Parts: sequence; C-alpha cells; structure tokens
Amino acid sequence: MPFQRLRGFKDIYGPEAAGFSRVESVARGVFSSFGFQEIRTPILEERELFRRALGDETDVVQKEMYEFEDRSKVQVALRPEGTAGVVRAYLENNFDKTEGLAKLFYIGSMFRSERPQAGRLRQFHQIGVEALGTDSPYTDAEVIHCLCLFLECAGAGGFKLRLNNLGTFEERAIFKEKLKDFFAPKKAELCEDCRNRLDKNVFRVLDCKNESCRAVVRKSPPIHDYLNEESRAHFEKVCGALKSAGIEFTQDPYMVRGLDYYTRTVFEVSHSKLGAQDALAAGGRYDKLVESFGGAPAGAVGFAVGVERLLMSLPEQAASEDREDCFFVATLGEAAFQEGFKLLSKLRAEGLRALMDYSAKSLKSQMRSADKSKSRYVIILGDNEIQKNEFTLKDMRDGAQKALSLSDAPALLKKESMKC
Ligand code: HAM
Repeated sequence: MPFQRLRGFKDIYGPEAAGFSRVESVARGVFSSFGFQEIRTPILEERELFRRALGDETDVVQKEMYEFEDRSKVQVALRPEGTAGVVRAYLENNFDKTEGLAKLFYIGSMFRSERPQAGRLRQFHQIGVEALGTDSPYTDAEVIHCLCLFLECAGAGGFKLRLNNLGTFEERAIFKEKLKDFFAPKKAELCEDCRNRLDKNVFRVLDCKNESCRAVVRKSPPIHDYLNEESRAHFEKVCGALKSAGIEFTQDPYMVRGLDYYTRTVFEVSHSKLGAQDALAAGGRYDKLVESFGGAPAGAVGFAVGVERLLMSLPEQAASEDREDCFFVATLGEAAFQEGFKLLSKLRAEGLRALMDYSAKSLKSQMRSADKSKSRYVIILGDNEIQKNEFTLKDMRDGAQKALSLSDAPALLKKESMKC
C-alpha cells in the first residue's frame, strides 16, 4: 500500500457511518426539544484561543494539540474541543448582546495527539451543547437532563453520572495550597507522574488511576470543605433540580477535569462497556471563560459526548440494527418485474428510498440482495399477486409479512416508513 491513514485516524463507513448518522439525528431531535440551535465553528483556530481557554498546564495544551504556523505566520491549532470556539463565536457574533441566553449545539471532529488505544483516537467526534449567558443552577440541571435524555434515546442506557462542585477559581486557589500541603509528606507513596503533578497541576493527582495514589487520595481533604456558602448553595440547587427531574447521579468529591476553565458544577458520564477509557461524556460550568475572552461576565455550562465512545456503548443489537427505511422490490415473473419497476419509480418519486436488483433471477437471490443492502422492507410481487392487485410486504427486522393493495402501494408504504 503506497499510502495508509495516520495512526489514531479512522475511515468511517458501513454500519459505523450509519451509527454516526443515527446518533446525530437523535441529537438534533433531543437538543431542539430543549431549545438548542446548531452552530458550526471552524476546525482551525488561533492557538492562543485554546491555550487561554483550557489552561497552560493542561495535558491538552502541553502535549496534545496539533499546532503549526500557517503560511501567513499565524500560530494556529486544530481544535482539541468545541467549547473555546463556541465562546469565541458567541462574542464575535454578538450573541451576548442580541440573544441574552444563547443555547447552542455542535457536532464535529476534534483533534488530540494522544497515544491511540481502544476508544482513544487522534481525530474523534464530539456532540456537545453550550448554554451561555446564565448563572442559574437550573441551567446546569437542564443541560445534564438533556445529556441523559440524549444518551437514552441513542440507546446507551445503563450509564453512570457523577457530579462534583469545583468551586470558584479563588476557592480552588486556596484548596490547591491545602492539597499541596497534604501530599507533600506523602510524596513517596505517589507514582512518578503524580510526584511531577504536585507542583504543576496538583488536582490531577486526585484523578490518578494508580491504586497506591488512590489510597492516599481517599484520605485527602475534599474540596467541599473549602467552598463558601454561595458555591455550596448553587450546587445544592443543581442536585435538587436533578432529583426533581428524576435523574440518578452520585456525588464524587474527588472528581476533577482535565481542562482548567471549569467553575462549580462538573460532571462525567461513564459506561461499563467502555473499558479503560470509560468517559462517555463530560462537562460542567465555566463562568469565567467569556470574561477571559474579553466579554462582559456571563455564566455558561455545557457538555460534550464522544461519538466513537457512544457507539461503543450501544448494545450489540442496537449497534447492528442498521437496517434503513428502504424498500427492496423483489419480483417473480415477467409481468411482476414490469409492475415492480413501475412501483420502484413511484416510490422514488414519493421521496422514499427504494432498490431493486435487476440482475438477480430467483426470488431467493433477490432476498439475499435485499438482506445485503440492509433494506428494512421487502416488497414481494409475483404474477399471481398482480392478478389479485396485491403485494406482500415483509419487515426484515422481525420477519412479519402482510398483504397490501397494489393500487394504494405508494401511500401505504409511505405510512409504513413513518413507523419506528
Ligand atoms: P472532555 O472531557 O475533554 O471535555 O471530552 C469530552 C468527551 O470527548 C470525553 O468524555 C470522550 O468521550 C471524548 N473524547 C475526548 N478525547 C477523546 C479521544 N482522544 N478519543 C475519543 N474520544 C475522546 C471537553 O472536550 C469539553 N469541551 C466538554 C464541555 C463542553 N465542557 C463544557 N462544555
């Protein structure tokens, strides 16, 4: 092979491409019912945008961004996540002045030069939402509700939602010093990575998966002890609103995030089908980001789901249930073939998806073609049936068959295609 795709990059086709389309359309449906509107931001942005938003010391900025100087000598980067670009667009297009509350969603490719493994790619896809211009804890709850509903509608039920309160930047600065003091005498019990993290990004020690580090972390003071009344009250309202929306969650006092912009509420959704990379989605509130980009103070909260991980979380049956709403016309006999061809054209003129295999001779080989094309329905038409002005409709999902009137075929089939 003269050329191969790059490590950590994928071609998406066949059932996986169908899975992408399906979850994207579920996302559009669920998000619009919550009042979110689509935004498409550029894949390439100024490097500084991400550095300022995500934080200088984060792994993403330090090690993972695809960055380069373009031909006009501007330092640019492929977006490693969606939030920074959305906040830039919110300010650049004056949504802060015209919209009040802006509720936006996005679907697209992100790039991080991480070590590839199952569920971890260098080009991956996120589906996310951002609600900008509000401090209300009910918006946190609404965004989380929207995430859970989306995951359920996409077929990834059985996930676990964990929440934490990371407080304001000021509260976190105090907590950071307390943590450093706590870990300093226990340095020898920590792994090498965590020993390095102590100075640079002590919060990441809380996140370490190494068992000896976890044992130390379990004895560390929780951030909750360093939060003021306002931050605690905000978080309690988020939890209360989630409970009244019937959303199950657990509080994880040691959960931190890999991006620095978060304030107060943070959350993560994990799924048991994912293995080591078990984070299916994550998000939180980022009340200082708009201001740090030069806007007036404006609270904001959002999440992003990893699409590849979402598809990995689906049960086998849902993942393979990729039969499309397509009608395959199978005929037996010359008169039936002519009638079938007419019907095929009528269905297409009605905007329905329809196929026919002109070369297959027997009914059996046409059924094989229908199966291969992943059509959900097969229309079976024989010369006998034509005499009775009928055709047989077979649903390939469950094998059910029924006889329908041939003269009303387009209308009847249109109705059929609207059923789930
Ligand atoms: P994040 O936690 O960095 O948050 O990423 C969100 C999700 O993207 C992860 O839970 C995971 O499913 C997926 N993901 C991340 N990296 C990879 C990778 N290398 N390969 C495959 N999937 C990956 C954010 O990006 C924030 N912008 C979320 C947010 C929106 N917070 C507020 N608003």
